[in-house]
Amino acid sequence: MQPSEPMLRGSGDKPTSPSLLANPLDFISEDHLRERQVCAVIDGLATADTLDRQATTTVLRFLNEELNVHLRDEAEDLFPLLARRCTEEDAIEGAINRIRADQDEAMRLLPEVRAMLAGCLDRGGDLTAKERAVLTKFAGHVRRHLVAENAILLPIARARLTRADLRHLSKHMRSRRGLPDFPGTPDAE
Ligand SMILES: [Fe+2]
Repeated sequence: MQPSEPMLRGSGDKPTSPSLLANPLDFISEDHLRERQVCAVIDGLATADTLDRQATTTVLRFLNEELNVHLRDEAEDLFPLLARRCTEEDAIEGAINRIRADQDEAMRLLPEVRAMLAGCLDRGGDLTAKERAVLTKFAGHVRRHLVAENAILLPIARARLTRADLRHLSKHMRSRRGLPDFPGTPDAE
């Protein structure tokens, strides 16, 4: 599968395809589409009169299986690579700090969001007004991080990261998902 094939621009209704990991920036970009779509589902949960159990399960699965890994891809690999490659005129330090602040806030709220959604599923009840407010706040932080990354960081990463950097990023993202490295490619580290 080549990264330029049509599946690259998905609708975000499913987890991002591991076939995109050969081109890690495309994978991250696709993950952002996925996040945007799940944020819309979270907003729907926050405003609906009664709990949509299927949507709640979708969000819980995303939080447990996708979001944490995505944030680690960025915090542990993408941001350090950008910091190493970017020049002063790129002025990305402030952008990374703002993005990290939103990510940290989303991660801080994550256990509470997870517990309240799981609790609603268990007891078969609806969300309280306070819980709805937490959901809206959480979705806001996740959405802000991806908007800033799409607008600022990913275009700079596409311009500045070397082939070796992309290779390193791809390798670590595959490893984080329990996938073997692509065979037959030299280690660029
Ligand atoms: Fe991101």
